[in-house]
Amino acid sequence: MRHVLSLFDLTSKEIERIFAITQDLKTKFQEGIREPLFPGRVLALLFEKQSLRTRVSFETAMANLGGSSMFLGKDVGWGERESTADFGQVLGQYVDAVVCRSNSHAKVEELAEHCTCSIINGLTDTSHPCQALADLYTLRERHNSLSGLRLAYVGDANNVARSLVVACGKLGVEFAIAAPDRYGFDAEFRAKLQQEIPALKLLETNDPVEAAEGAAAVYTDVWASMGQEAEQEERATAFASYQVNAALMKHADSDACFLHCLPARRGEEVSAEVIDGPQSAIVQEAGNRLHAQKGLLAWLLGTQA
Ligand code: CP
Ligand code: NVA
Repeated sequence: MRHVLSLFDLTSKEIERIFAITQDLKTKFQEGIREPLFPGRVLALLFEKQSLRTRVSFETAMANLGGSSMFLGKDVGWGERESTADFGQVLGQYVDAVVCRSNSHAKVEELAEHCTCSIINGLTDTSHPCQALADLYTLRERHNSLSGLRLAYVGDANNVARSLVVACGKLGVEFAIAAPDRYGFDAEFRAKLQQEIPALKLLETNDPVEAAEGAAAVYTDVWASMGQEAEQEERATAFASYQVNAALMKHADSDACFLHCLPARRGEEVSAEVIDGPQSAIVQEAGNRLHAQKGLLAWLLGTQA
């Protein structure tokens, strides 16, 4: 039984295996085949924050795979009505896996300690592994090989960026991040990257142009994530010169795509011209959340071979 709390939990080989399953299931889905691989299996979605993509794609994935899912919102009282230990021990007996979305990564780690079924991180303050799996899978669909590509991330070194850099490191993609100093990776995370992924090619800069130079994909996310609404104004000032727009995209490869986890704020982190333009791959990317999560579920609930 395995948990996926961050992409540090998966080896490069395991990610490649998940991608192979993803590709197989996506092809079959597009041919109208929905193999009921997991009849009777149940996935719980334990969410403390809003979600469209993560919630709906996981619920649909489970239905397509012949299992079922249940959404558990705040009314189940996780961490409020009873201890996380009691909550996890009980929930783990009822369901086969739990996707968690929480304000606190530590709270998800505590749940995983006590839960006897697999926990999948569906977004915490520090990690969004399912997003990064779909993102790298999307990049892989657009290029024959991921190895040697550069992904430029322009914006806050948030949960999405932290998962992307790990995914890139594990799959041989250079990660170039442009952010103002105080919004870059912290020293502890940087040290973990060096220790866990010594081969990672990482460029950290304050200059979006330097990051975008020669990139196969330019990625951004909102400047203020869920829970940071009070910092919106301060962050808008700090990131004012970090918008992904047509002028910045010119520095990337001519066939570079634009990626964004969504939801997006047009006119802030990205111009409408880019996100709604020909280089934008956001629809393919969001669609791949369904397929990549099927790959992850099939790997996790299956043999893990
Ligand atoms: N990208 C993403 O995780 O979207 P949701 O917040 O809608 O799930
Ligand atoms: N960084 C964003 C991602 C949303 C999918 C947030 O945490 O709100």
